Formats: sequence, C-alpha cells, structure tokens
Amino acid sequence: MSHTLNTVEDLEQENIKLLEELEVSYQNLELVVEQASKEKEIAYRELQDNFEALQRSYEEISNKENLLVHLEKLSSIGQFITEIIHELKNPLTIISAHAEMALMMDPPAELQEQLRQISKQVMRLSGYLNRFRSMAYKSQEDFVLFDVNKNLIESMSTIEMIIPKGIKLQKEIFELPLMIKGDQYQINQIFLNLAKNAFDAMKTNGNLLRVSSKVVLLDWVETGGNVGKHYCLSPAKWNRLLTEHKQFVLIEFEDNGPGIDEENLDNIFQAFFTTKDRDKGTGLGLSISSDIVKRHDANLAVLSQPGIGTRFQIIFPMIDKENMYEDIILRTSTMVGM
Ligand SMILES: Nc1ncnc2c1ncn2[C@@H]1O[C@H](COP(=O)(O)OP(=O)(O)OP(=O)(O)O)[C@@H](O)[C@H]1O
Ligand SMILES: [Mg+2]
Repeated sequence: MSHTLNTVEDLEQENIKLLEELEVSYQNLELVVEQASKEKEIAYRELQDNFEALQRSYEEISNKENLLVHLEKLSSIGQFITEIIHELKNPLTIISAHAEMALMMDPPAELQEQLRQISKQVMRLSGYLNRFRSMAYKSQEDFVLFDVNKNLIESMSTIEMIIPKGIKLQKEIFELPLMIKGDQYQINQIFLNLAKNAFDAMKTNGNLLRVSSKVVLLDWVETGGNVGKHYCLSPAKWNRLLTEHKQFVLIEFEDNGPGIDEENLDNIFQAFFTTKDRDKGTGLGLSISSDIVKRHDANLAVLSQPGIGTRFQIIFPMIDKENMYEDIILRTSTMVGM
C-alpha cells in the first residue's frame, strides 16, 4: 500500500516537475517567437525600403528613357520640323512687316495698339518656332567668323519691338567689330532668350535692361567676382578655355528685376526648370542657350542678388589675328573692371 502511495506521490512530484519544465520551455518558446517576429519585422522593413529604392530607381530610369525617346523622336523629325517652321515663318514675317508698315502710316491711337499687339504676338510665335528650329539644327551647325557686335545691334532692334511698356533699354555697345567663330543664328537666339527672361522678371519688379559688349583680358576674367560663380560649363572646360585664350568678348544682359534665389541659381541651366506658370515658360530658354554656348567653346555665367537684379554674361574667346585691338584693350581694360 505504502509502496502504491509512494508511487502516486512520486508520479505527482514528477508531474509537477514536468509541468514546471513545460512552462519554462513554453516561456523560452515565447521568447524565441518574440525574437523571431522582431527579426521578421526588421527584415520586412528592410525589404520595404529596398523595394521603395528600387521603385525610385525605376522611375528615374523610365523618366530618362522617356526623355531619350523624346529626344530621339525630335531628332528624327528634325527635318520635318524645319520644313514646317520654314512654311510658317514666311507668312509670319509678311504679317509682321505689314503691321509695321501700317504703324508707320500713323494710324488712330486704338488701331496703333492693335497693330502693336499683332506685332507682339507674331514675335512670340516666331520665338517659339526659332526655339524648335534651334533643336532641329543641332547637327547642321555652320560656324563662320563674324562680328558678334553687329548681331547684338541687330538683335537689339528685335528686342526693342517686344519691350514691355515702362521698361528702358540701355545699350553700351563696343565701338569696333568683335570677331568670334560661330553660328550667328544660334547666337541671336541667346540674346533673345536673355532679353525675354529679363522682361518676364521685371514684370514683378524693375524697369531697366542694360545690354553691353566689350573686350576683356584674361586678368579680368580670372579676377574673383567679375564672372558669376554659377555658369554652364564644367569647371574643367572653363579652366581649359582660360588657358587657351588671352582675350574675350564679354556680352552682358543686366536687369534690376527681382533677382534669382541662391537655391535656384544651381538649376536655371537645367532643361525644364522654370518658376513661371505652365503657359508662360517651358524652362528651355537657358538650357538651349547653354547648349549653344557650350558648342561655341564659350561660357554663360550669372550673377544675381535677390531684390537687386540679375546679370547674365556670355564670354566668347575673341579672334584677333592682326592684334588690332591691342591699343583699345589697354584703354578699355581699366574701364571694364567694374
Ligand atoms: N533675368 C532673370 N531674372 C530673374 N529670374 C530669371 C531671369 N532669367 C531666368 N530666370 C529664372 O530662370 C528660370 C529658367 O529660365 P529659362 O529661360 O530657362 O526658362 P523660362 O523662361 O522659365 O521658360 P522659357 O524660356 O522656356 O519660356 C526662369 O523660370 C526664372 O525663374
Ligand atoms: Mg526663358
């Protein structure tokens, strides 16, 4: 009997021990499960981060791909665009000439305003067409030696036609020819883009566009602060240019508009960067201008102070085979150190 009792007691004891062990194992298991689920959560979060990064890269690639496809299409239909532009530009030139002639006949005031509007809108359309043309012409450049001063003067008369009311144009044009090598049509595009930007900016603030051309020596270019620290060339290319040339043509477009914020100065040469409304700006003017400048082995720089104004500088290597400018450079190099 006592033996049986002992056995029951023993069994009970053993049961308790087993139960205790089971509990400990269960607690351990709980810890293991908890740890595993934490690890699972971390791994899941990592997976999610990787997935998001992958998604971002994919979006970037497809954006770039879209741009490439877009550019490819543009170049393949370049010829087609050129033809259409040619067909459109002729009647536009005729409309503009008729409006100008009618204006010269001194019509009544209200008609004058309407004729000015016609001229202005035709100029706008021509501007857009020219921009497309400069894309289509990318591979058909025709570089010649020419007087960029003459082109600047000619562009001024076009610019005077689109100048908004209340804005003054101050011209400080160098007295002698300034010879550079390049595509005259494309260079004129830059002048028009810079003037248009200044006019757009001065709608909110400012009333003076100063356009100047002059010869500057390497010293002037290299002296800190004369040339804007934001420019479209890579620093390496700019340095190479400075080692290869001694004198430069400097053309400046300066306005007393609202200026450009420091953070935007890094982006203005990027394609499609604009602070204007969708129907007012495409963000291509400066990007096309900087492409043109780069192809001309030149530089486009900007100095700007918010609330004070903006100065764009185009710096071309000057061709002066006969050293005919030596005297003038000596005279003007002191004058230009502004
Ligand atoms: N003179 C200026 N004063 C103030 N901001 C300027 C000036 N010139 C350019 N910007 C700024 O640089 C941006 C980019 O200029 P960009 O000419 O490339 O494009 P856009 O003028 O906006 O459009 P688009 O030239 O295609 O009509 C402008 O949206 C504007 O914010
Ligand atoms: Mg523009």
